[in-house]
Amino acid sequence: MKLNQKVADALNEQINSEWNAAYIYLAMSAYFDDLEFHGIATWMRGHAQEETQHAQRIYDFVVARGYKPEFSGLAKPNSEFESPAAAMKAALEHEEAVTRQIYSLFELANSEKEYSTQTMLNWFLTEQVEEEDLFRSMLKKVEAASESMWHMFALDKELGSD
Ligand code: FEO
Repeated sequence: MKLNQKVADALNEQINSEWNAAYIYLAMSAYFDDLEFHGIATWMRGHAQEETQHAQRIYDFVVARGYKPEFSGLAKPNSEFESPAAAMKAALEHEEAVTRQIYSLFELANSEKEYSTQTMLNWFLTEQVEEEDLFRSMLKKVEAASESMWHMFALDKELGSD
């Protein structure tokens, strides 16, 4: 059964939103690289790749339901932050916004009786709990390490700097 048009349009928006998240995290990665925190930058870049996988997951579902995804332009991401902790806080807030987007999609799929879309979105509901937990934990680590440059570089090394 071809995907309900309203749901298809909303999923299409989410594909673009996931790409946008990847772009946001790449810009944050550039911010950390610029501060010589290459370990945190690598961690952030890895997360950007995860976002492209999220986009691909929805893309594949939409295609399998007979709809052609459309791409909009990406917004210019912010790459200037007051501090490493401020950048990580912005990342956590972005994840919370994505969770709200997934909730809205789930509600729409429910009201449009798009049951298989709800099943597909179940994966994202679980994923968002993990994503928020991950970023919340990273924010706490960066906040704690921000007390001294030595701790920041130790954290950076732990996350993959060479
Ligand atoms: Fe696609 Fe980090 O949520």
